[in-house]
Parts: sequence; C-alpha cells; structure tokens
Amino acid sequence: MASRLLLLPFLLLLLSSIAAASSPHKGKLKEKLSHLHFFFHDVVSGSNATAMRVIQPAGALARSFFGIVTIMDDPLTEGPDPNSKPVGRAQGMYAATAQDELGFLMAMNLAFTAGKYNGSVLTVLGRNQPLHPVREMPVVGGSGLFRFARGYALARTHWLNLTSGDAIVEYNVHVMHY
Ligand SMILES: *[C@@H]1O[C@H](CO)[C@@H](O)[C@H](O)[C@H]1NC(C)=O
Ligand SMILES: *[C@@H]1O[C@H](CO)[C@@H](O)[C@H](O)[C@H]1NC(C)=O
Ligand SMILES: *[C@@H]1O[C@H](CO)[C@@H](O)[C@H](O)[C@H]1NC(C)=O
Repeated sequence: MASRLLLLPFLLLLLSSIAAASSPHKGKLKEKLSHLHFFFHDVVSGSNATAMRVIQPAGALARSFFGIVTIMDDPLTEGPDPNSKPVGRAQGMYAATAQDELGFLMAMNLAFTAGKYNGSVLTVLGRNQPLHPVREMPVVGGSGLFRFARGYALARTHWLNLTSGDAIVEYNVHVMHY
C-alpha cells in the first residue's frame, strides 16, 4: 500500500508531461484577428440554381415563408460580379424560423478554396433577416487555419431580385484564431 502511494506522484508527473508534449500549440499560442471580405451568390432560380428548397410545408405563410428549408452550395467570390475570382463556397442551409417577418436560421460552412485559406473552413450559425440592411451572425468555429475560431459575420445585400429571390450578399467576416 505504502509503495503504491509513493508511485502516485511519479505517475502524475509522467501523465502531465505526456499531455504537454502532445499539445501542438504548446508555447506558440498567438491569437490574431483576421478580416475577410467576399460576395455570396444565392441563386434559387433557373437551371443553374445553387440553392434549393427541400422542405415546404403546405401551410407556409406567404409573408414569412415560415417552415421552408433551403439547402445551398453557394459560390463565394472576391467581387460582386459572379464571374469574379472564386474564393470558396457557402455550404449549408437556411430555414425560415420567424412567423411575422422574413427571418432565417443560417447554418453554414464557409469553405475557402483560394490563397492561404484554401482548405480552411469557418462555421457560421445565426439569425439572418434578409430584408434588414445589415445582419450580424456569429462565427462559432472553424478548421484548418481557423482552428479555435470565433467572431462575427456582417451581411449586406448588394443585389436582390425580389421576383426570383436571387441575391448577391456582401460579407465582412472578423474572426479571432491562432
Ligand atoms: C448555366 O450555366 C451555363 C454554363 O456556365 C450557361 O451556359 C447557361 O447560360 C447558364 N444558364 C442560366 C439560366 O443562367
Ligand atoms: C486548393 O487546394 C486543393 C487541394 O490541396 C488544390 O487541388 C487546389 O488547386 C487549391 N486551389 C488553389 C486555388 O490554390
Ligand atoms: C428577376 O427575376 C425574374 C424571374 O426569374 C426575371 O424574369 C427577371 O429578369 C429578373 N430580373 C433581373 C434584373 O435579373
């Protein structure tokens, strides 16, 4: 019994040194703030649609589209022109979760495909009222260069076709990461 108790401090020391050695961020944790600016193209109409309704309840309210769920794989580009340099895709969904106005729950991965962020992803989960001038949505995490990310995205409608629902949205994302 006594010899087992003596072993305990050595075991604890061993375990803590193993934990320290296996942490890839040990000794080089330096948080930085990055700003990303791009345009998001939500095409819901035509043969090249990048977003489609997957759930549409029979009783969907015309004023709010409450209950409608749309899945998207929307291109992200450097400029407002859809043919400008692609920088990634917004993959996820938006669900109309407000009854009295147009208001979406947005759940999406911003998967970057250009420059140093190629292969890195930011995950956004928040509330988006598309008819408001500016919408703020939390960035809740990320991967690749965006590990441990947290921050916010500001969305402003750059162009909207009220008939078709197609939209081009300017995004400014401010994110803390390592
Ligand atoms: C769809 O994309 C193709 C290829 O880029 C293009 O030729 C066609 O005009 C597009 N159709 C519409 C309706 O935009
Ligand atoms: C992004 O990374 C992928 C996979 O490594 C590679 O195939 C692709 O060419 C890269 N794209 C750019 C624009 O660097
Ligand atoms: C808006 O959408 C409607 C319906 O798809 C289309 O007929 C019209 O040309 C579009 N307007 C513009 C400016 O793209």
